[in-house]
Amino acid sequence: GSSAVVTGKKRLQWSSRMAFILAAAGSAVGLGNIWKFPYITGENGGGAFVLVYLACILLIGIPVMMAEIMIGRRAQKNPAEAMESLALEAKANRLWKSVGWMGVICGFLILSFYTVIAGWAVSYVFTAGSGAFVDITPDQAGAMFGGMLADPIRLLSWSTLVVIVTMYIVGRGVNAGLEKAVNFLMPGLLVLILIMVGYAMSTGHFIEGVEFLFAPDFSKLSTESVLVALGHAFFTLSLASGAIMTYGSYLPKNTSIVKTSMAVGIVDTAVALLAGMAIFPIVFAYGLEPGAGPGLIFVTLPIAFGQMPFGTLFGVLFFLMLSIAAITSAISLIEPAVSWLTEKRQFSRLKACVTSGLGLWILGLGTVLSFNVWENHKLFGKTFFDLMDFLTANLMMPLGGLCVAIFAAWVIKSKVAEEELGLGKGLLFKAWQFAMRYLTPIGIVIVFLNALGVISL
Ligand code: PFF
Ligand code: NA
Repeated sequence: GSSAVVTGKKRLQWSSRMAFILAAAGSAVGLGNIWKFPYITGENGGGAFVLVYLACILLIGIPVMMAEIMIGRRAQKNPAEAMESLALEAKANRLWKSVGWMGVICGFLILSFYTVIAGWAVSYVFTAGSGAFVDITPDQAGAMFGGMLADPIRLLSWSTLVVIVTMYIVGRGVNAGLEKAVNFLMPGLLVLILIMVGYAMSTGHFIEGVEFLFAPDFSKLSTESVLVALGHAFFTLSLASGAIMTYGSYLPKNTSIVKTSMAVGIVDTAVALLAGMAIFPIVFAYGLEPGAGPGLIFVTLPIAFGQMPFGTLFGVLFFLMLSIAAITSAISLIEPAVSWLTEKRQFSRLKACVTSGLGLWILGLGTVLSFNVWENHKLFGKTFFDLMDFLTANLMMPLGGLCVAIFAAWVIKSKVAEEELGLGKGLLFKAWQFAMRYLTPIGIVIVFLNALGVISL
């Protein structure tokens, strides 16, 4: 069946709880899990970083996800208007609207680089298919990746394709194909990652990889690392960027926000950890650098595919699945902007898609060029891509999450949250409220101040 149906009020609605879980999981599971999680884990020293990340998911991320879905569903509006209308209902300042706005803008900025990285994945479908991975050496794999980065036209072509495909799907409105795509995507992706983990076990460095991932060495943890872990918890769960709030606004009244949030959180975390377990043993087996940066999976995985039986086939399938996973996330990133343009500015769906697609394509040029022509043009010591990544994941998302938590637990009436979450006044509700009232706001402020060097813990 289709994942969303139009209701009488001409508002989309997911056809079932499962449809929502699939769409939300499709949004959550993406480049963040398979591309970003391994490389930032490598850059930030492994185990201790992963532990902080897991704590952020459990104590902050999942409760904030519940809050966002609740806000979206209660208001039945796009993020900016949802925040505004609930603020007015609670007789609070309508400027809460700007939090919704910040999310939509954050999603747009993320998308401008997300489509470029997705383009790398699409490009690698063809590289894999050409047989180029067979018996590739680590040096050759590095050169192959470097060659792609050095070619702005090639990067731009693939990212343009990603933008067009994404906008085409969003432009068709009701995401009929989305649920079907996610239906086979999640199991398929999981099977392929398990195959990679199987290969990792055969390298003789599996234990080393798993230890890197799970054995915490807190001396390697910097204050900046903690901020990166926190930011990534938001990024990977698609929070503070309009996506989950918008999807939540399509959620039927009778589905459990708590259960669905937990399901999405678990799936997302499992995929990330498995990706790490596939990649780090390969890193150590071939003497590569865990902190190699954004190219990590594009250098390690081809080596693995080049060695394993049916490697060319698995390589094609893997990068294809990764591309599709990236596109289902990209769809959720642009949906808030499109829903605002159509609902508020009376744009036709087509016009909204063309406008936003063009905007993010232009912004994407900055990321394309930051890997070659503009490589040495830096602001605050960061390339355009680094700056976008830092601005969104490490500043806007934690800030947005902070505001959402305060809004959900201090501004909105407690009764509203009780009704929406369906937990009554039980212990679980108290735990959620505690997380939103104290844990999340205080935690985020401390992490910020710490990273800025204002305080030092
Ligand atoms: N959660 C996605 C990932 O892990 O790849 C990225 C993302 C999607 C972030 C949607 C934010 C968002 F709104
Ligand atoms: Na994710």
